[in-house]
Amino acid sequence: MIIHYKNAIIKYITQVYEPSEDSFLLAEAALSEIKGKENVLEVGCGSGIISAVIKANTGARIIGIDINPFAAACTKINGVDVIRGDLLSCIKGKFDIIIFNPPYLPNIKEKIAGDKITKDWINVALDGGDDGRRIIYRFLEEAESRLVENGRVLMVISSLTGIEEVKSKMISLNYAVEDKVQERFMFEQLTVIRGTKR
Ligand SMILES: C[S@@+](CC[C@H](N)C(=O)[O-])C[C@H]1O[C@@H](n2cnc3c(N)ncnc32)[C@H](O)[C@@H]1O
Repeated sequence: MIIHYKNAIIKYITQVYEPSEDSFLLAEAALSEIKGKENVLEVGCGSGIISAVIKANTGARIIGIDINPFAAACTKINGVDVIRGDLLSCIKGKFDIIIFNPPYLPNIKEKIAGDKITKDWINVALDGGDDGRRIIYRFLEEAESRLVENGRVLMVISSLTGIEEVKSKMISLNYAVEDKVQERFMFEQLTVIRGTKR
């Protein structure tokens, strides 16, 4: 399948998260956040849509990471440098901006898949553990030491994830926290949060 979006042409394949409202919201937020030739890392790049849009529309240096080998292959097909790995453990260095559209849904087993839960990669893209915040908290802890001074994380989460809990965690890790953009969809509100390293 192919999507044309903001000067980029993005292919996506089975076992890779299909670009959705959260992808588009975060891509737009990233475009308005990036200034000049910043070093940008996208964790959980999936098809690579957000990174490809950044590459097509800014002067930033962008690299993606995904734990799903199909996603890493797809991102490469879409012209973005990528590493297959678990969060930030697979990459060295510091970044101006780290972007993440994480698995943020709580209790996905009960809410979505019921008895038919499988171990496929789409579950890995969606499943945030019992409270929706399992991967998010690990990510925030790892990212804090991988930002330059005044570096930012940009992350989209849902009202189903517990926005206040995520912000409290960020504050406890010494990020300055702001809502960058919010949009309401049928079952949830999506918020892009910016955390700036103090
Ligand atoms: C909601 S999808 C977002 C995909 C893409 N960025 C987008 O916005 O369309 C979440 C992505 O995070 C990846 N992911 C989940 N856990 C991860 C981890 N521990 N390390 C790296 N990537 C992970 C998934 O494989 C999936 O591609």
